[in-house]
Formats: sequence, C-alpha cells, structure tokens
Amino acid sequence: MNKISARERSLLEAAFHAMNNAYVLWGFKVGAAVLAEDGRIYEGCNVESWVSGLGICAERNAIHHAILHGNRKIKEIAIVMNVNNTGKVRPCGACVQYIYDFAENSKVKVIMAKAEKSRIDFESVEIKTVGELLPFPYKGKNDL
Ligand code: THU
Repeated sequence: MNKISARERSLLEAAFHAMNNAYVLWGFKVGAAVLAEDGRIYEGCNVESWVSGLGICAERNAIHHAILHGNRKIKEIAIVMNVNNTGKVRPCGACVQYIYDFAENSKVKVIMAKAEKSRIDFESVEIKTVGELLPFPYKGKNDL
C-alpha cells in the first residue's frame, strides 16, 4: 500500500465521485480531480460519443472545470479508472501533455488508482510527477 497524504486521499475521493458520473458508451469510467491554484478541487469525468473523437477524457474535463472558475495553473491531479485487474491506470498521451501545459511546474504530482463502482483500490495507488510521465514535453515556440 502506498502511503498517501490526507490531501491526496481527498483528491482521489473527488476523482472517484466524478468517475461515477462518467458517460460511457463503449469504454470504461474515468474520474479526475485537480487541486487548482485557488486551493479548490475541480472534478471531471470522461464523456463518450458514438463518434469516438467527439468525447473527452476525464483529466481534460477536470482541467476545463478549473479554468471555467478562473484558474490558470494546477498543483496536483488525481485520476481513477474503472479498469479490470490487468489494466494499469495511466493518463493518455494527450492528457499528459495537457496536464503539463497547465501544471505549475514539472514536479506536479499525478496520483493514479484503480476503482470499482463502490470503492477506490488504495493498494493500486501510484504517484508520478508530470515530468516523469513526460520528460520531453512539447512547449510550442517556447521550446525553440
Ligand atoms: N480516458 C480518459 O478519460 N482518460 C485517459 O487518460 C484515458 C482514456 C477515457 C476515454 C474513453 O472514454 C475511455 O477512457 C476509454 O478509453
């Protein structure tokens, strides 16, 4: 069992709350929660469409939720996925880039855990920094 702080635990619980509202047609449920610069937690869930590219991942939805409330930077993010025993919880490449884009720095923690319908699997918790997940981020013209 990974040792997690009370703050990380509440972020995972917020992500789990969001996961249960996920709109899933063909995939699985995902929930995310970001701790934003205003000190508040903003949740997001994945939303699917029968046209796969039209939906959105939970992480980007949570970031948009924070932005909608006036934030520009995130301090931490938790992600829970309703994947089966063999699946690992990892944000997709697009979301890792997006997390990096809005992270206050490359040390921002990404807290990942599996969840069933009724509980978070705290045994599965893994924590990485966004810099570890994306060591060579795209930074647009700032990278040139
Ligand atoms: N999904 C997320 O919400 N976040 C990720 O990082 C990876 C994938 C969603 C997209 C789709 O609705 C479902 O999970 C299966 O890929």
